[in-house]
Amino acid sequence: MRILVVGSGGREHALAWKLRQSPRVERIFCAPGNAGTELLGENVPIAANDLQGLAVFAKQNEIGLTVIGPDDPLAAGIVNRFKSEGLRVFGPTKSAARLESSKIFAKEMMRKLRIPTAMSGSFDRSEKAFQFCTRLQLPIVIKADGLALGKGVVIAQTCDEARASIDAMMNQGQFGEAGRRIVIEEFLRGSECSLHALVSSKRYCLLASARDHKRAGDGDTGPNTGGMGAVSPADNWSADAEAAFHREVMWPLIDGLAECGMDFRGLLFPGLMMTADGPRVLEFNCRFGDPETQTILPRLRSDLLTLLEATVNGTLNDCVLEWDTRAAVTVVMASGGYPGKYETGKPIRGLDSCAGLEDVHVFHAGTRREKDEVVTAGGRVLAVTALGETAREARERAYAAVGKIQFEGAYYRRDIALPPVAAKVAAH
Ligand code: AMP
Ligand code: GLY
Repeated sequence: MRILVVGSGGREHALAWKLRQSPRVERIFCAPGNAGTELLGENVPIAANDLQGLAVFAKQNEIGLTVIGPDDPLAAGIVNRFKSEGLRVFGPTKSAARLESSKIFAKEMMRKLRIPTAMSGSFDRSEKAFQFCTRLQLPIVIKADGLALGKGVVIAQTCDEARASIDAMMNQGQFGEAGRRIVIEEFLRGSECSLHALVSSKRYCLLASARDHKRAGDGDTGPNTGGMGAVSPADNWSADAEAAFHREVMWPLIDGLAECGMDFRGLLFPGLMMTADGPRVLEFNCRFGDPETQTILPRLRSDLLTLLEATVNGTLNDCVLEWDTRAAVTVVMASGGYPGKYETGKPIRGLDSCAGLEDVHVFHAGTRREKDEVVTAGGRVLAVTALGETAREARERAYAAVGKIQFEGAYYRRDIALPPVAAKVAAH
């Protein structure tokens, strides 16, 4: 079968890498891909949000399954588009993807289905939003309703800061249409955990847990990023938490979606805060996490193509997932300055010396090939994953590999996979 992976990040490299291992995969294309995906198949110069271009390519090249990496094309309706043209595609439809693309919609669903989440209000007028803030304890969490490149959440430490953020989003158009409506919610204390589920209408299958490190700096300091590293299994996940998660989050949601006539098929990834009162949903994502995918997939023993096809075809109940019991740790190497301004085009050295390392995978994210060199091309540049008998061993291996790679301005956190610093975020 010919596969098309849409996107250009570390997540897409990991998806393509894992799919390539399937004996049924004959050729793999990535649009637009990066310098890593190029080594697994062919990069196609079509942007991830060029729905028309992607559909034409899939038809002309007899693609058997297209796998969508990022959230934007899902929110724009790429799955509807592909389906209407008779093309097989992995991901939810535009309306189901609203669980991620509209925080107001997600909050409404959670309220209706009594899914545990932060207390919140949704607003389309700033005056009402200001008033609501005065009723909450500090810090206050302010979220743009729509997709805002991962920057749409502000944790305001003071009322003035909250007012300024609300004003910037709702009145000054900071995030364009995405911020015209907002959610304001209470700040939850705890540590975060990422759960991925393959969802096919009324069936679902949980993947291994992972813990992402969202802040840019060590000790969970500095601005939020797309994710600076992850560990799987998550060290803050337990059998009790999982039971509560199935009971209080997944089943109510699956039943609730069905009741609304929404046939969700794809990857659902609830981001959770593990609080003293149990797991609380921070957000729903409708696609694989980045960098969680780079951490989870090296632990997956089962054939990914079979799982994705079963999700699309509605035959998930026939699937048994097998996992490597070892731990995996991913360290993201970023361009200096990320998530703010950064330079690109810096040559990356040392990739060859990691190629032969056992149980180490270097997934490319913001990279591109320039003549004989691989150079930086984005904020998050590489995701270096290692497996180990324990998280500690995996961590040591991942950092040893990171130490072999250099590019000007390379930045990475030094504390990936160390125990969570619960509540410390509150101080920032
Ligand atoms: P979201 O896009 O909703 O997941 O928010 C991005 C990040 O902001 C999360 O991963 C958390 O680190 C933080 N965050 C969001 N909502 C809350 C909340 N209610 N309490 C504390 N932190 C939050
Ligand atoms: N790493 C978090 C996300 O993919 O949303």
